[in-house]
Amino acid sequence: MLEFLRFDPTACHFPAPVVPVLPGLRLGDLRLLAGPAWPAHGQHFVRGRYALAAAYAAAGVGARGALLAPAYHCRTMLDPALALGGAIGLYPLQDDLSPELGALAARLAGGGVAALLLTHYFGVPQAAATVAAVQELCRRHGVALVEDCAHAWQVALQRAPLCQPGGGHYVVASPSKFFGCADGGMLWGAPPQALAPRGWLQEVRGWRDAWRRGRPARHPAPAAAQRPCGADVRSRESAPSHQFQAALAASSGLAGSRWIMRHSRLERLAGQRRQHYATWAAQVAGLALARPLWSSLPDGCAPYMFPLLLQDDSRFAALKHAGLPIWRWDELASSDCEVSGRYRLNLLHLPCHQGLEADQLEWMGSQLRRVLA
Ligand SMILES: Cc1ncc(COP(=O)(O)O)c(C=O)c1O
Repeated sequence: MLEFLRFDPTACHFPAPVVPVLPGLRLGDLRLLAGPAWPAHGQHFVRGRYALAAAYAAAGVGARGALLAPAYHCRTMLDPALALGGAIGLYPLQDDLSPELGALAARLAGGGVAALLLTHYFGVPQAAATVAAVQELCRRHGVALVEDCAHAWQVALQRAPLCQPGGGHYVVASPSKFFGCADGGMLWGAPPQALAPRGWLQEVRGWRDAWRRGRPARHPAPAAAQRPCGADVRSRESAPSHQFQAALAASSGLAGSRWIMRHSRLERLAGQRRQHYATWAAQVAGLALARPLWSSLPDGCAPYMFPLLLQDDSRFAALKHAGLPIWRWDELASSDCEVSGRYRLNLLHLPCHQGLEADQLEWMGSQLRRVLA
């Protein structure tokens, strides 16, 4: 049984975001010839959460022990473990979202852990020394390592060749966060399993959804009340949320999504994401009430989102009422991690994907400056 703290925005009546949070399908991002195949032994699930479920199952979560996950997470990282009936422990993170290695080591030494989830947040890889230290701890305690590259397609491509089926090292990715495709979750490191193919109607819907996803919405009418709103709700839960549909766990991702992944201009998408990240960093420099979590990127990194840390959450409603595309992990399982507790309401995830236009970036920056200057 886990205790969750969730921000309930029902009373806020936030409008739909004006700018798409995820990239849509654009012809200019595609090429006719397929790019290189992704690393061998990869399996294509419907979403990253089902790839995680297969990794956790192969690692023995539930049957053999608990999942040890980072204290800053979204629900879909934990749901697969709950679906397996597994216990979940949480380890604390530092300000830069790297694991607190001392606390992590202590939790592993306590025993009872089958798998450890290490997340590369927002497309930025954890430092090589950190990954090596975590890997060594896992080896020492006989615990499987699941690298969560849901935000980091390019990190997944680098890490996947290192894991062999059955070797206790798994890599998971969520390609629909990077490419303009409607679904997908990749898993490397697990023994292959038979996945049911999707029907032609689902394939057609997938193309339609991929196309529609990138469309901007109308600007909302100016909201009268922009005061803080919403309420925190506590619950105790042992079952997965509605975001985890067991019926999809053994289905394959769409063939259309695989085609889009193979035919996307990877370098171009990565370059545009880096450029947009740099634009964000320039736009928010000097804001009084917020600062970027990372103002620059490591070489070669293709970011997923631009993480912006608010001083406090008092202006969040005003930003949402403006129609800004903001994600926030405001539902967390309770832990003793001070950083995650603070980031739950204060860390904004802002899009920097390839589909953004210069005027959209400019408009989003102007809204942030209006509310947070
Ligand atoms: C860090 C992380 N891991 C895993 C997932 C699950 O990926 P998917 O949405 O493809 O199921 C997400 C989803 O947002 C995520 O942010």
